[in-house]
Amino acid sequence: MEKKNIDWANLDFSYRPTNMRYVANWKDGKWDEGGLTADDKVVISECAGVLQYSQSCFEGLKAYTTEKGQIVIFRPDLNASRMADSCRRLEMPVFPEDKWVDAVVQTVRANADYVPPYGTGATLYIRPYMFGSGPVIGVKPASEYQFRVFTTPVGPYFKGGAKPITICVSDFDRAAPHGTGHIKAGLNYAMSLHAIMVAHENGFAENMYLDAATRTNVEETGGANFIFITKDGKLVTPKSSTILPSITRRSLMYVAKEYLGMEVEERTVPFAEVSEMAECGLCGTAAVISPVGKIVDHGKEICLPSGMEEMGPVTRKLYDTLTGIQMGRLEAPKGWIKVIE
Ligand code: PLP
Ligand code: COI
Repeated sequence: MEKKNIDWANLDFSYRPTNMRYVANWKDGKWDEGGLTADDKVVISECAGVLQYSQSCFEGLKAYTTEKGQIVIFRPDLNASRMADSCRRLEMPVFPEDKWVDAVVQTVRANADYVPPYGTGATLYIRPYMFGSGPVIGVKPASEYQFRVFTTPVGPYFKGGAKPITICVSDFDRAAPHGTGHIKAGLNYAMSLHAIMVAHENGFAENMYLDAATRTNVEETGGANFIFITKDGKLVTPKSSTILPSITRRSLMYVAKEYLGMEVEERTVPFAEVSEMAECGLCGTAAVISPVGKIVDHGKEICLPSGMEEMGPVTRKLYDTLTGIQMGRLEAPKGWIKVIE
């Protein structure tokens, strides 16, 4: 298989159509066979649930080329199960989890020429998603749904890759208590668009959201969870029922404990404690670990001791270990890596 002629090392995080995508339809209470198609267009009712009431959810995972040249995906079973949680919360039909993983595998295999070669720094981003395709005008769940998976080769989510970024404390809330912050609903991202534009206009790469109820605790950003490293070398990460349970963060907690022998605390993180931290990073599939150098709270600057030049030393170790596992340089815990045959 010959790879596409793409300048892999200079890819940014944007959409570039690839050969094939997966489509399955839910109608009359059941899923059809599903399969691959070359057609990148979606035709739905003008009154589709997704268009009227934003009934949609999605996932994000990546395919990597390992050091030995195999194509692998990272913990797809966790994405399948998180999407099932999203569907249940949004009154959408669950796409069976084993079929979900198989749909992802089929789509990656069909686009193998777009999986960036080892060592380029790029990866193939995989976007499974589902939406209400049947018409609804009263507020209720749609009667028909479409599940799709496409792929797109990507580079770093933040310009500059591993360079520390500056973020700001947002005046907007991301998720309400007992709301939808813990699932990957499209509506969570729609409502964050104004907040991210305001942040960008003010020169910040991302928003730090605080908990909506008290505005005293750190939640997450628009597209990643937080990790902090304390001055005595512990990994601390916010625990909250209104943040997305990041698979990267859960993996890093394991890596920190089991590979690096670190202490790990998942707990409420008061914003007041952030100025005491040694390092801060944003973690997620797209973000990998993006180091944060500075957090600005309405003009008041918190400068992390790790600085603005490079990631802090502990963040670097976590980054190298996680990407080492993903790229096959380090042995993975059982079940973390799925090889695309
Ligand atoms: N938090 C939000 C709001 C996200 O959109 C994402 C991205 O998926 C994450 C966290 C990170 O989750 P994961 O590590 O599973 O990609
Ligand atoms: C991901 O990391 O996969 C995300 O979904 C984050 C962002 C692109 C929304």
